[in-house]
Amino acid sequence: MLNGGNLLFSRESLKPEKVIAGKLLADLIISSYNKMGCDAMNIGAYDLALGIDFLRKKEKAAKFKFLSANILDSHDKPIFRPSIVQLINGVKVGIFGICDDKLKLDKIPGSHKFKVANALEKAEETALRLQAEGADYIVLLTTLNTRFCRRIGQRGLPIDLIVGSSKRNRISLPILVDDTYIVHIERGGKSVGRLDVSFLGPAGVEALPPEVRYKGKSIGENLFLLNRFLPLKIAMPDHPDIGPMVKKVETKLSRLRQVKATKSMSISGGGSYRVAAGNSYMCADTCNKCHPAQYRRWKKTAHASTYSSLIKQEKHFDVECIACHTLGYEQPGGFVDIRQVGKFANVQCESCHGPGRLHVEAEGKAKMNRDLAGGEMCLRCHIEERSPEFELETYFHNVCGSNADAK
Ligand code: HEC
Ligand code: HEC
Ligand code: HEC
Ligand code: HEC
Repeated sequence: MLNGGNLLFSRESLKPEKVIAGKLLADLIISSYNKMGCDAMNIGAYDLALGIDFLRKKEKAAKFKFLSANILDSHDKPIFRPSIVQLINGVKVGIFGICDDKLKLDKIPGSHKFKVANALEKAEETALRLQAEGADYIVLLTTLNTRFCRRIGQRGLPIDLIVGSSKRNRISLPILVDDTYIVHIERGGKSVGRLDVSFLGPAGVEALPPEVRYKGKSIGENLFLLNRFLPLKIAMPDHPDIGPMVKKVETKLSRLRQVKATKSMSISGGGSYRVAAGNSYMCADTCNKCHPAQYRRWKKTAHASTYSSLIKQEKHFDVECIACHTLGYEQPGGFVDIRQVGKFANVQCESCHGPGRLHVEAEGKAKMNRDLAGGEMCLRCHIEERSPEFELETYFHNVCGSNADAK
């Protein structure tokens, strides 16, 4: 089972708010292709939408091969495996991948890390190499469009079959160009094309039932090809393993859609409170003096131990992590030296309520930040990337406040 490419995503790059959903879907596609027993896929421009490092990480989770003969590093070495040779029913089948070289590189994240060599030249070079290595049947997986596939066919290369998955081409009837058979499948894995290749010889073809013989095609002396498309129909029952996998991802995606308001991405940047002159952070122990009930409840929540979560991962000295797991990092009245966290450890009262010095000094007569009910301050930290399952209503319950179950 093979895939022509452009399988994982449907454009060259994802908007930041689509990244989590995109990753969930890519993982789903890979694990279901693992289950289906896929052998190899070609890498198309759309598969690079989260960068080449992401794809290489995913390659490790896949039980099938990621192929590309023309995606190269700065030393002109292929980044992925260019080709594989598989022994199928005694026939040595060489399979290789070619990415359309007219891709919009500037749109792909991290595109300085690779280049895409001329597709036709690399196709020729790789096909000839596979032939020299003794492949009996050679398959090219590519995101090149039909016009280019035809040009490859006309070059008289030892390529027997081209499986195309160009973004412009829809599913097409198979065409024969010289001795090369070209099929196009729809990108994104929306249909399955089944091509039976039999080495029957004229006598074997003659012996086939007439309806099969009529639908198929003989190539040269030996090959008999029979091509069928199996589009995914709604009425088809789900696979007992894959169906539940899809359901699980769908549930996660619908939760993600509920939290679409992630306006400010970082708490240490635009997400910080406007701090009034003279105000600063007092920390939770001070609040405890007058609000022991809220303090006790807070102590039981995960917020009171966010710093130890970092310590467990040995990330408490990582500036990338510190802001959301402590109070007041790089904010007026907070702390700046990452080694001097001290009383600012953990997400505290003032992470949500804002700095409390003026409130404490006025013994409660100066109001705390009132703008909590909408939950916007939660989303300064519970961004999609860090808290993909965040759902305001259930999360809001119990963190603090009069609407929580007091314990
Ligand atoms: C000296 C006692 C005292 C301390 C210390 C104190 N508060 Fe208060 N706080 C009060 C009083 C009194 C009220 C009630 C004021 C009212 O109802 O108008 C109050 C009300 C509140 C309210 C709800 C009403 C509002 O102003 O929004 C919040 C939230 C609050 N405090 C948070 C905190 C936090 C966070 C701390 C720690 C930084 C803290 N308080 C420290 C006395 C205190
Ligand atoms: C933008 C804010 C933000 C940043 C930056 C951040 N985190 Fe978190 N982190 C969160 C939130 C919110 C949760 C709670 C996730 C949930 O359960 O919904 C969390 C949960 C965690 C947890 C406990 C849950 C788990 O997944 O095991 C750990 C450990 C953790 N983060 C480590 C880190 C590390 C390490 C970094 C730096 C690489 C980091 N965080 C950076 C906001 C952040
Ligand atoms: C300053 C950053 C920050 C703010 C603001 C914040 N959180 Fe969190 N929250 C975290 C971190 C970090 C964790 C991870 C705790 C851990 O280490 O396991 C967390 C964990 C949680 C958890 C526990 C998640 C779990 O899976 O157990 C809930 C529930 C939660 N937050 C709700 C809220 C709500 C509701 C708000 C707004 C009212 C809010 N948080 C505001 C940083 C924040
Ligand atoms: C994760 C965010 C968060 C943290 C941490 C937090 N609070 Fe709250 N607090 C809230 C929310 C949300 C409300 C409810 C606001 C509303 O309903 O308008 C609230 C309400 C309150 C109130 C108003 C009275 C009440 O119970 O409704 C007080 C007082 C208060 N918090 C004090 C504290 C103190 C003291 C701490 C620390 C020990 C603390 N909060 C920690 C989010 C938080």
